[in-house]
This record gives sequence, structure tokens and C-alpha cells, in this order.
Amino acid sequence: MASFNLLLLPGDGIGPEVMTEVKKLLDWMNSTGVAKFETEADLVGGAAYDAHKVSITDQAVKMAGEADAVLFGAVGGPQWDSVPYDARPEAGLLRLRKDLEMFANLRPAICYPALASASSLKPEIVEGLDIMIVRELTGGVYFGEPKEIVTLENGEKRGVDTQVYTTHEIERIGRVAFELARKRGNKVTSSEKRNVMRSGLLWNQVITDLHKREYSDVVLEHMLADALGMQLVRWPKQFDVIVTDNLFGDMLSDVASMLTGSLGMLPSASMGIADPKTGKRKSMYEPVHGSAPDIAGKGLANPIAMMGSFAMALRYSLGLGEAADMVEKAISNVLNSGLRTKDIAAAGQNAVSTQEMGAAIIKEVQHIAG
Ligand code: IPM
Ligand code: MN
Repeated sequence: MASFNLLLLPGDGIGPEVMTEVKKLLDWMNSTGVAKFETEADLVGGAAYDAHKVSITDQAVKMAGEADAVLFGAVGGPQWDSVPYDARPEAGLLRLRKDLEMFANLRPAICYPALASASSLKPEIVEGLDIMIVRELTGGVYFGEPKEIVTLENGEKRGVDTQVYTTHEIERIGRVAFELARKRGNKVTSSEKRNVMRSGLLWNQVITDLHKREYSDVVLEHMLADALGMQLVRWPKQFDVIVTDNLFGDMLSDVASMLTGSLGMLPSASMGIADPKTGKRKSMYEPVHGSAPDIAGKGLANPIAMMGSFAMALRYSLGLGEAADMVEKAISNVLNSGLRTKDIAAAGQNAVSTQEMGAAIIKEVQHIAG
């Protein structure tokens, strides 16, 4: 039986609650022999700061690099608003992405038919939606230098962030998008702001050249990032794969989440470069939603994005596509049955807790497995 070593980083806020539901799913998979999962857990974000005064320890980063996959909950919360900038909860997440060079962030936005009415958009706009946002994750303005606040001679301050991309960074994320498109709707929409940004101009040229050279069988279109934001809420089904930079990808994927009914629905996968010997990629799976401190600890969180992220780990890192299908089917069936956490419930509808939703999904997985 295949055996895997997973690192669980539940983090802060609702992270631990939604991770608990994944742990139950892992236990069940272990007990029925789907595979053998060994798990280790560590702290990240504010939880790590409270224990170690850093947002993640070197040891945890090392474990993440050695794991077959990392499952990440969420980080952040108002209680850490005044910690030193370098030790803020988000820094732990950014360090993991950067140190493990997980440059490709896959954010699928799928609108389950049963949830079409939970979106803030008209059901016919979102029903059946299936798009994939490919966000560059280790470059751009998130990491570009200089990145600083300096005091000028006149006493005024100046904040600087640097948007920077090199050819190879754009090419490798472009490849991920084109490869994915070939297995889906065969269309890539590349997005930047070439009308105002040099890095956007380069992005556009590199993607255009790559397409011409290696992927001319795929349909490529370019769309300015502001226009894309507008088109996402106007007629999102025109898209298949969207590829864009770190910051635009961050924003546009939050927008896309609402097309699916709730931010609590969106899973994501972050992938590194393929090891030249084994072909394996470092990888981390996390829900797109954050730590939601306002509802933390109340059993209100929707565990679907976290459980869906685990399904992505099964598919993309562990070679367990069938198990992934099973989890995704179970989520879909449970939604069809009408069960809703608060974030996706209709007005006046009874909502179930995090635990109840998790349990229902696991029960449905068992049912599907026979
Ligand atoms: C995300 C989050 C992070 C980001 C934060 C928590 C640093 O919003 O994964 O989308 O901006 O990348
Ligand atoms: Mn975000």
C-alpha cells in the first residue's frame, strides 16, 4: 500500500477547526486502506509567534520541504496586529511559498449547481462554472526588492514595493497554465496591466512567445487585469484557465470565490518545480479563505475549501486521483442533499456546524466507497 508523509499546519482562527475535519477523513482513509498516511503537525502564523516569537520555525520549514504534501489551514488575526512586521502571521505563509519555491498556485473556482443560488450573482451567470486561476506565487510585488518604508530628508515617509518579473518566472507559470488548459477547455487568458507596467509588457511578450513556440494548439487571449475583473462578474463562463501575476491573482481569486457561492468553497494547490531526478514537486494545499477570526472557535466555518484542498493533494501530489474524485463527489452530493453551513445557507435556512458538515461529507465518502 502506498504510504505518504503529510505535514499539517492548521495555523490560526478557523484553520484548526477545518483541519480537524480533514484529520477525520485521513483517519478514515487510513482505517480502510485507501493509503497509509503518516501525519506530523506544527505551528504557523500567530500560533507559532505565540510559542516561538517567529511566524514559522526553521524546523517546520524543513519538515514542509520533506513532506509528500503540506496541508495548510489559515493564518492571522487581530491579536497579532502589533507584532514586528517580519514576524506577522502572514510572513510564515510567504516564507513557506518562497523557501520551497512553490511558484504555481492553482485556484479552481467551480460552482456546484446546488450552490448557484448562494452566489451574489444571478444563478444563470454562475451555474456550472468551472474555471482555473493560475496565480504566480513567488514573484512580483510580494517579494520584489526594495520593499521598505524610508524617511526622506524632509521628514516625510515613503513606502516602496517593487513589482518585478524575469523571463523564466513568466515562462514557467505560463507552461503550467497551458498544460492545464490542454487537459480542460484548451483556452488560456493571460492577464496583466501592460498599458501601465513594464513588467506587464514583459509578461505579455513572454506568454505570447511561449504560446507561439510550444502551445499554439491552445487558444490564447490577453486581457488587462481591470477588464478581467469586470468580465469575471459579467460573464465568468467565458474563461477556462486564467494566468496572472501574484497580486492580480490574489485579488481575482477572491472575486472568483464569490462566483462559487462563498469564499468557504475555494481550495488551492501550490506547486514547486519538478525534481529533476524524481519528478516530484514540493506542494502545499490550502483553502483560499483566511483565518476568519470573527467566527473562529464557534463551529461556524465551512470545511469544504479545506477538504477540497486535501482532495487536490490526493490528485496532484499523491497520485490518488480516484480518492480525490470520491471526496469531490461526496462534497457535491452533500450539497445536493441541501446541507449548508452558514456562509452558503439561504436566508432563513437552518445551517449546520463545521463538524456536522465534515461528518456528512465523510459519511458520503464511505457510502460512495461502498
Ligand atoms: C492568499 C492570502 C495571502 C496572500 C495572505 C494571507 C498573505 O490572501 O493566499 O490569497 O495574499 O497571498
Ligand atoms: Mn488572498
